[in-house]
Amino acid sequence: MAQTERANDYRLIDVRPLEPALGAEIRGIDLGNGIADDAFAEVHRAFLEHQVIFFREQSELAPETQIAFARRFGDLHVHPAAPHLDGRPEVFVIHTHRESKVANGGGWHTDVSCDTEPPAATMLQIHTLPETGGDTLFASMYAAYDALSDPMKQMLQGLTAQHESEHVYRGRYSDRGVDDAGRVYPSATHPVVRTHPETGRKALYVNAGFTTRINELTSAESKNLLGFLFRHIESPFFQVRFRWSANDIALWDNRCLQHHALWDYWPHERKGHRVTIKGDRPYL
Ligand code: SIN
Repeated sequence: MAQTERANDYRLIDVRPLEPALGAEIRGIDLGNGIADDAFAEVHRAFLEHQVIFFREQSELAPETQIAFARRFGDLHVHPAAPHLDGRPEVFVIHTHRESKVANGGGWHTDVSCDTEPPAATMLQIHTLPETGGDTLFASMYAAYDALSDPMKQMLQGLTAQHESEHVYRGRYSDRGVDDAGRVYPSATHPVVRTHPETGRKALYVNAGFTTRINELTSAESKNLLGFLFRHIESPFFQVRFRWSANDIALWDNRCLQHHALWDYWPHERKGHRVTIKGDRPYL
């Protein structure tokens, strides 16, 4: 697979690419102290170039500091189902422990793709980690799209898919005190291939978590094509696997990647704060 040419000419931050398809570690910046405009411009460029960036060597950010940093990228999104910090609906508390019945983010998915305007980006800081396990895998949907044949790309261009969340969210957080009786969970139609609004690159935009059918096909055709695409996106060529250290911060671009959080550490605890940034309606 061809590797994208990139100039590593950052002056204010240290950017260390992890894989040809995606992922870079960022060092040399302390997010607890705020971020100047010129350093932020480099962070933003690294984020668009690498799709997911990992800030190492951080201290635990106060919720307002994390919120302020995330707001540099845009307005914040509020999760339709998940538990949040008291008085801070933008901060989704990620928490798994011995009593947990379910962990967030298990299985390949794009965050909240059931929204008409799904979040552009997600920022997660993990404060408490198990001794081993709890890695997060990310897969580039640019790379997954680029690897398809031209006839397959052409066929996918004209298709739209249904993204639903009732089956994902109903009752999911009941063990964490969320009563969702009477709540209506979102669903949306999106193109199967989307154009990234900032880079102009095309990315595959269906995921096993939320995408339930391709609208223009028969149900057998839809099931088989989605099955093929869900297997296709799992290729290790498109992936980076992140091994967290305490207080690392991951910032990922939901417009061009999927992720999968591994719950392989039960009964141990893993905890952190997630903030998402609003996005636009996907278009072809
Ligand atoms: C998620 O936001 O999907 C969870 C990611 C993680 O816990 O690593």
